[in-house]
Amino acid sequence: MKNIAIFASGAGSNAQKIIDHFKQSAIARVTLIVCNKPGAGVLQIAEKEGIEAILIDKEQFFHSDRYVQELQQRQIDLVVLAGFLWKVPANLVQAFSNRIINIHPALLPRYGGKGMYGHFVHEAVINAKDAESGITIHYVNEKYDDGATILQERCVVLPDDTPASLAAKIQVLEHTWYPVIVERLLS
Ligand code: GRF
Repeated sequence: MKNIAIFASGAGSNAQKIIDHFKQSAIARVTLIVCNKPGAGVLQIAEKEGIEAILIDKEQFFHSDRYVQELQQRQIDLVVLAGFLWKVPANLVQAFSNRIINIHPALLPRYGGKGMYGHFVHEAVINAKDAESGITIHYVNEKYDDGATILQERCVVLPDDTPASLAAKIQVLEHTWYPVIVERLLS
């Protein structure tokens, strides 16, 4: 049985989908939630699901090996970022080379980078009058939204779409594809 750690800072809807997907799985379980934001919805999900949660100490996250050790001690096989807004430090990227993935709510390399998250992404897509958007699931390296692409899925952007309506379409793609890709990578 493989062990999945989810890093998240927000509501945790993707975390919930991945947890649910692996509940009956013979392949893997979500065994750890790592969060940098006290009060985040994902912490309530962890509690409800009986999954261990760690709240990050920022200083130690960026300036020590503490979290590399926390993950290694728990024999984590794959780190899944799901709405985690901090850059992953180099020591963690190196220790889990090709074993950290992220989901971005646009078609990278467009609309990525620092500050491009949530509604900022969807506003930028709509302001640019793009005809399509989508999701990118990619490996994580030391830069924001920069590692090799694993999967992109597209949706149309209609002239009357708003950031909120586009976000809803994107969320359907995320919830559909992220658990599937996590499973594929662990199989
Ligand atoms: C998702 O849109 C994901 O693409 C992004 O952050 C959001 C997380 O949403 N990186 P949730 O917390 O999983 O609901």
